[in-house]
Amino acid sequence: MNAPKTVVPPIKCQGIKTKLVPWIRQTAPADFDGTWIEPFMGSGVVAFNIRPKRALLADSNPHLIRFYEAVAEGEVTSASTRRFLEEEGAELLRAGGEHYYAVRDRFNRYGDPFDFLFLNRACFNGLIRFNRKGEFNVPFCRKPSRFAKPYITKIANQVQAVADIIRFGDYRFECQDFAATIASARSGDLIYCDPPYIDRHADYFGIWNQEREEQLANSLRSAPCDFMLSTWSGNQFRKNISLEKLWAEFDPLTREHFYHVGGREDNRNPMLEALITSFIPDRRQLPAAAEKQLAPLEAAPPCETRCETPCKTDRT
Ligand SMILES: C[S@@+](CC[C@H](N)C(=O)[O-])C[C@H]1O[C@@H](n2cnc3c(N)ncnc32)[C@H](O)[C@@H]1O
Repeated sequence: MNAPKTVVPPIKCQGIKTKLVPWIRQTAPADFDGTWIEPFMGSGVVAFNIRPKRALLADSNPHLIRFYEAVAEGEVTSASTRRFLEEEGAELLRAGGEHYYAVRDRFNRYGDPFDFLFLNRACFNGLIRFNRKGEFNVPFCRKPSRFAKPYITKIANQVQAVADIIRFGDYRFECQDFAATIASARSGDLIYCDPPYIDRHADYFGIWNQEREEQLANSLRSAPCDFMLSTWSGNQFRKNISLEKLWAEFDPLTREHFYHVGGREDNRNPMLEALITSFIPDRRQLPAAAEKQLAPLEAAPPCETRCETPCKTDRT
């Protein structure tokens, strides 16, 4: 049987798991029937592909939560997205970067979910990054023709796909720290955690450091239900020492993965991705390639998420 086609959400973010969704889905227990809990929902791509009946999707970034709440409430729809991007895209084509920065200023004042989507799809390299004052500060991708008709259609269809999934289930979105999300778990639920990768992505809303990593490990260990945790294992440049320090008694699944979003050279090379599970996964469900070891110095394929040609940072 063919694997189901991966649903791609309208929002992009660093560390997005689009390519790893089949692996995560096959690792999750097939008979799971509780609430799917994601304390670090990001783009939501994992939950939207697992499609649980009930889900609690949370993140500390209020703009991600506000965006998906607006989709759930029918404020952001395929039609309203199309209208908005056609208007703003035409203005971007006319005024270029000047318009991008005007929308960015407007977003930093009012936090409108349509502006968030616009910026997310027109900014440099799909980054979601805020300064200390909580202002979005990613520069323009320097493509005034960004919102061509097929691109708008693609985004409108992505909004529709996600809206259909949210409508089908009982989904709750919460802007809160991971500790509060994990504390709400009950027996029979399943927690999937995809935190910022320590020492790798540092630009999210809020800080991520060793202390938070340890707090996460402690919360998951004392949770009343099973959990899965995505993290990185290493590559030819670096090794995740937290894996041995905090998760030594677990036997993680690993597989090769390419991260494209991010400015650092060592973040743009193949990485051995790890999936820690509190249960013994049914390895018969997993494709044979799932635990391939990392080939040193392998070339990365073209960017999967955003700009086909890397753009230069022009303003921060
Ligand atoms: C690696 S991303 C998640 C990516 C997501 N799995 C996907 O595929 O799109 C990590 C997320 O954690 C969120 N985050 C960072 N610190 C947090 C905290 N203390 N509590 C909750 N969420 C947090 C960030 O805003 C970001 O969206």
